[in-house]
Amino acid sequence: MKIAWGITGAGHFLRESVDLLKDLKQKNNHLKVTTFLSRAGEEVVRMYGLEDELKTISNGEYLEELFPESGQGASVPKAGRFLLHKYDFLIVTPATSNSVAKIAHGIADTLVTNAVAQAVKGSVPVYIVPVDIAGTIESQMPYFIDREICMKCEFCPPQEQCKKNAITDQVQLLECSGCGECVKLCSYGAIQGGMAKIKVRDVDSGNVQILNKLEGITVIDKPQSFPDSIL
Ligand SMILES: Cc1cc2nc3c(=O)[nH]c(=O)nc-3n(C[C@H](O)[C@H](O)[C@H](O)COP(=O)(O)O)c2cc1C
Repeated sequence: MKIAWGITGAGHFLRESVDLLKDLKQKNNHLKVTTFLSRAGEEVVRMYGLEDELKTISNGEYLEELFPESGQGASVPKAGRFLLHKYDFLIVTPATSNSVAKIAHGIADTLVTNAVAQAVKGSVPVYIVPVDIAGTIESQMPYFIDREICMKCEFCPPQEQCKKNAITDQVQLLECSGCGECVKLCSYGAIQGGMAKIKVRDVDSGNVQILNKLEGITVIDKPQSFPDSIL
């Protein structure tokens, strides 16, 4: 079985999505997974320290490639694979409110939204796990420095030892690889990755409802709900 996996730039459900794909691969030795990573997805995956795990899921062989959007052209030629029926299905998890809005309104101008459009046009089933469905969600944040705890030490071990030079007076998230070493190195516990409460906007809930009615697309409420029977 060969599947395509679209990852967009959401921190919410990201860990769970990676775990789902790892689990599916463990259950099915012959499963091949091609990963399509949106531009924001590239950054967010790195911030949460999950880059290496993606490489264990998509190891670079044919139909097991990892396609970051930054390496693709605007016309996204690789999405043509859906029209050639190279994949049994496409799963997009996690799906940001941005990508959900685009898909709901027929927009296909990014790697992942175009993959969805081509999959539907090629009659390849699409499963989407939106992060913003309804109510309030609790989401893991990337690392940040708590200014109330930070002692502004003259010698700051996290800053000195960060391999990515990602620590100034803040954690520079675009440089951060999410390794978490800095958390251990600060004796005051000033570097953390806390939880944030996020209110789902009505417009985002509405877009999920639109998505629910679109041809060829099945909405799944969380990665853990993905039915094994599909494989
Ligand atoms: C650390 C981090 C976490 C984010 N998490 C989410 C999220 O959970 N849900 C969401 O809709 N957007 C989230 N975003 C914002 C998206 O990355 C942003 O809207 C981006 O434009 C989405 O592009 P894409 O849909 O093409 O991936 C997050 C951004 C950052 C920096």
